[in-house]
Amino acid sequence: MKIYAGSANLSLAEAVTDAMGETLSEREIFVFPDGERRVRVVGPVVDEETVIIQPTSPPVDRHYLELLFLADGLKRSGARSVTAVVPYLGYQRQDHVFRDGEAVSLDVVVRAMESAGIDRFIVFDLHSVKIAEVFQRPVRELSALAEFAKLIKDRGWDNDEAVLVSPDMGGIRRIKELSEMLDNMPYVTVVKDRDLSTGNVEAVSFDGEIKKRAIMVDDMISSGKTMVEAARLLRQNGAEEVIAMATHAIFSKEAPELLENSLISQVIVTDTVYVPKEKLFQKLGIVSVSGVIAKALKV
Ligand code: R5P
Repeated sequence: MKIYAGSANLSLAEAVTDAMGETLSEREIFVFPDGERRVRVVGPVVDEETVIIQPTSPPVDRHYLELLFLADGLKRSGARSVTAVVPYLGYQRQDHVFRDGEAVSLDVVVRAMESAGIDRFIVFDLHSVKIAEVFQRPVRELSALAEFAKLIKDRGWDNDEAVLVSPDMGGIRRIKELSEMLDNMPYVTVVKDRDLSTGNVEAVSFDGEIKKRAIMVDDMISSGKTMVEAARLLRQNGAEEVIAMATHAIFSKEAPELLENSLISQVIVTDTVYVPKEKLFQKLGIVSVSGVIAKALKV
């Protein structure tokens, strides 16, 4: 098996190959003065099973193109198969037409990846169950929930004083699954309202009993507004400590500052998305999913 990486998250790709006792195969990504990229896989791949590790995180379009070019390079060079490990799948929130005239962006990028020769996909904590149905090729969805469950147990946060929280209604499936991993830890669901023109979020109400320690779990943190608003509601209603956990650290715009200056005491994310130095902040902790990916690639 030969494993390649795009430029989106080299540290994760290296951690995966380290865990497998492998090394990354060589590739070149050359950027022309006009911004176009020339991508080349180095080394014979004829009849090889190949893997590309590339989250399609921001800048989403650039990372998608790199992934497409790598897949095309591998297939043209005779690779027997191409598996794309896409720890964060860009455009997954545009999975249907919300308003007349909109493109289904997820459908477009999935078709492009399949046309470029990707035979199967390994992804992480998708936004909804419907997303895997857009693919025509096999998709294996991995999850960070077991890592979060382990962390919660290791810290001794137990059912007497802690409650899980889904910061929006869309996350109920995820929170139920995590609750089962934690001896049915109770959970609360927050109802949020987002203004589609400004992106502003309001945590309107909640369902369930808030306890001293509230552990919010979501698939991603983008602007950070969902977590910060839910934390406000939880603190106003009796929580003394609010922790935020999310698989994908998108951290767009001012998210790091917003989270650092919020009522949240700790923000725990995974490394599905690379967090550059300038986006790190004191309250942030990062859990690696490299072992989970390495295990999945060995099967
Ligand atoms: C929404 O449905 C997702 O599960 C996340 O809650 C959302 O995408 C987070 O976005 P933001 O951090 O911008 O509020």
